[in-house]
Amino acid sequence: MRPATPPPERLIVRKLEIDLKRGFARHWHGGRAYRTQFFNALSMSFPVGEQFFIDAVRDAARALPAGPQHDAMRETVAGFIGQEATHRRIHGLYNEELERQGLVNRWQHWATARIARFRRLVSDPRHALAVTCAYEHFTALLADGTLRHTRWLDGADADMQTVWRWHAAEETEHCAVAYDLYQALGGSYRWRVRWYLYVCLVFGIDATRQTLINLWRDGTLLRPSTWADGLRLFWGRDGLVWRCAGPMLAYFRRDFHPSQDTHAVPAQTLAARWLAAHAALLRPVR
Ligand SMILES: [Fe+2]
Ligand SMILES: [Fe+2]
Repeated sequence: MRPATPPPERLIVRKLEIDLKRGFARHWHGGRAYRTQFFNALSMSFPVGEQFFIDAVRDAARALPAGPQHDAMRETVAGFIGQEATHRRIHGLYNEELERQGLVNRWQHWATARIARFRRLVSDPRHALAVTCAYEHFTALLADGTLRHTRWLDGADADMQTVWRWHAAEETEHCAVAYDLYQALGGSYRWRVRWYLYVCLVFGIDATRQTLINLWRDGTLLRPSTWADGLRLFWGRDGLVWRCAGPMLAYFRRDFHPSQDTHAVPAQTLAARWLAAHAALLRPVR
């Protein structure tokens, strides 16, 4: 294992200069239905999910002992909240366009009901934080793939590539924030892994059923070409299965940390390069 690659010292909140209100093509991912509807499904989960992460991190940060020793962490938490709030807003606009295209976001309702149940049953803020750590790990490994493996977005509309890679770069930048906070608050390995198993199950089921609903409403569910595309996405060259299995299993290690990296070019380097190359489309606001 290579030494951990440090994230940027200060998290910058950036406004993305792309107008999603103008809309985008129904099959924006190179005309391929499965990929388009899979990415669309993920987008549908973000506004509710990312609000949960914001709340979890904010509540947990309040439990940090007072004093200057945690000032840097409080500052990083503020950056995390700013970045996630911006992602929520952009994906809210993205999802409005999906509704105009006739898709129906069920995932947001499943997540809202689950979060309400969670809040009734669980009071220790470290549990919501452990759930957030698990989702942030999923997000970070998908983000890294989005920046590392060009096949994941090859042929997609240029603006949509930018939206997904901007989100990916910022997810990479802040991938350790919830985890470091969890460690600082004495969160246990056992609960970290239990909630991860739960999140693996829930995320897998939700992503699958929302993708299927999208394909059904899109009228492409029963086309052989849809499923050929889906098979390539998961099992083809640079497929999600091959690229995500290792990082997913890494989370079970006791000495796991989100900034550990086994790649020749670390994730943080890829994110920094992408952000520098696309600076003209990004306006720092904080
Ligand atoms: Fe995000
Ligand atoms: Fe995130």
